[in-house]
Amino acid sequence: MAEFKELFKSADWKQEKHVPVIDAPDSVKKGEFFSVEVTIGKEVAHPNKTDHHIRWIDIYFQPEGSKFPYQIGKTEFSSHGVSTEGPDTSSVYTHHRASLSFKTDKAGTLFASSYCNIHGLWQNQKQISVK
Ligand SMILES: [Fe+2]
Repeated sequence: MAEFKELFKSADWKQEKHVPVIDAPDSVKKGEFFSVEVTIGKEVAHPNKTDHHIRWIDIYFQPEGSKFPYQIGKTEFSSHGVSTEGPDTSSVYTHHRASLSFKTDKAGTLFASSYCNIHGLWQNQKQISVK
């Protein structure tokens, strides 16, 4: 029986459309807010249809030396074309991009996870240094 953590897949985002791509500075100033944007399919587009889409992106930060991560934010993508007329009839689709900002006094690692309704859980991470 697999453990939950084993269900999170990772790969090279330039070749695998499900990997959350983290855009954030390599280095930030201590205590100053900075922007983080996480998208799916930056290089290889992921579908956004009623039967195949990204449901959410969840972002965490673990400062160096900290035992536990902090959740920075979770973004849910709620519209995928469905209406009373059926699948892919509304023309309303939420794009799978999460944008937020936070600050930290300590360097650490950003973790992003995402969920595709038919291809499961994906993850990526990025190191952040602090000046
Ligand atoms: Fe997918």
